[in-house]
Amino acid sequence: MSIMEYFTPTHVYFGKGAEEKAGEVLKAEGATKVLVHFGSGSVKKTGLLDRVEASLDAAGIKYVELGGVVPNPRVSLAREGIELYKSEGCDYILSVGGGSVLDSAKCIGYGVYGGGEVWDFYCGKRVPEGSAPIGCILTLSATGSEMSDSSVITNDDGEPTYKRGCNSNYGRVRFSLLNPELTYTVSKYQTSCGAADIMMHTLERFFHSGDGLDFTDSLACALLREVIKWAPVALENPEDYDARANLMWCGTLSHNGLMAAGNATKGDWACHQIEHELSAEYDVAHGAGLAAIWASWARYVLDTDRARFAKLGEGVFGESDPEKAIDKFEEFFKSIDMPIDIAGLGLNFDEAACRTAALGVTFQDARTIGDFKVLNTEDIFNIYMMASGLK
Ligand code: NZQ
Ligand code: ZN
Repeated sequence: MSIMEYFTPTHVYFGKGAEEKAGEVLKAEGATKVLVHFGSGSVKKTGLLDRVEASLDAAGIKYVELGGVVPNPRVSLAREGIELYKSEGCDYILSVGGGSVLDSAKCIGYGVYGGGEVWDFYCGKRVPEGSAPIGCILTLSATGSEMSDSSVITNDDGEPTYKRGCNSNYGRVRFSLLNPELTYTVSKYQTSCGAADIMMHTLERFFHSGDGLDFTDSLACALLREVIKWAPVALENPEDYDARANLMWCGTLSHNGLMAAGNATKGDWACHQIEHELSAEYDVAHGAGLAAIWASWARYVLDTDRARFAKLGEGVFGESDPEKAIDKFEEFFKSIDMPIDIAGLGLNFDEAACRTAALGVTFQDARTIGDFKVLNTEDIFNIYMMASGLK
């Protein structure tokens, strides 16, 4: 028997103008000096940073800025953030940006609280026992980091680079201010990457071993249908509020644990591991990497439980033939200009590259991944080969 655990402590404010509450909410949280963390410039260009800082000023809250987070955020900047937080006497972190900024904020939070080398939390040497308090203003619908327990960081200390996740309930932020309008300026490419990532957080959980709940399966199919419905609308009209709002809320719920509620395990997650190797080594966008891998993974593991794929296909597309259901997902990714193979990521993989990447995923043959189907280095090599058109 497994007991369902569902823990989502984040206070969410969702809707137009949500970001205006920053000062008020931080004041209620007892913050006096905030480290405002952001990315490479979008929040300055859109004027969001100015508005947020005006809200802090109005609430009498001091702040210090740290920008410069890049996609696939680096531990080196987080280390700077840890030092800055301490030297400036901050008592709260406010992330203003997409998933990369928020993950970097979470890394700073762990480092401030835990001291020592923060990478230890990502390479499994230490487990977080707390975090500096964090709030977020989200500008991109994708990762679900705004309610998730996860933070994914890239170690840029040397070659090769490593991308590792740290999952802990201490990584769940105190509050998230979610205004879909803030995502109007997200590029078409990042909108599509976000849609793919949102879908994958539900798909990874849908494929699990052991028992589950029919209700959770229905929620999963509904969420996938909504993303498939609204992503093309957002691409056609970036300022369609309904499209942006549905995508944003789907993104949040896809990764806060709801889509695995009642399932025997937290899901498969092999595609994420296989993708993280690509974004670590080649700096590709996470959502695009997932789209490039998923169908190859699906075809490789299909015979593990064909009925599961049939249920998914029926629930999402009204298509109960498992092979055709996989084709439908692939067609959808193609229709929103997502790659469906590794070449589509602009990478030219040969057999040796597939072998190197597979060994990277299993930490040089030291672990397996997956839950729906457990995969070893050879399996992962085969999936990379399929995704490279070599098998
Ligand atoms: O840096 P700025 O200038 O803000 O530009 C960003 C960046 O170039 C831009 N952007 C964000 N909001 C914008 C905008 N541009 C215009 N208007 C806006 N409103 O978009 C680009 C991508 O941003 P990024 O934050 O990297 O994207 P995303 O939110 O998809 O985050 C991806 C990262 O999250 C990790 C991924 O691996 C990747 O490192 N993940 C985190 C998870 C989690 N913490 O729960 C789960 C995921 O599975 C994922 O692994
Ligand atoms: Zn993801």
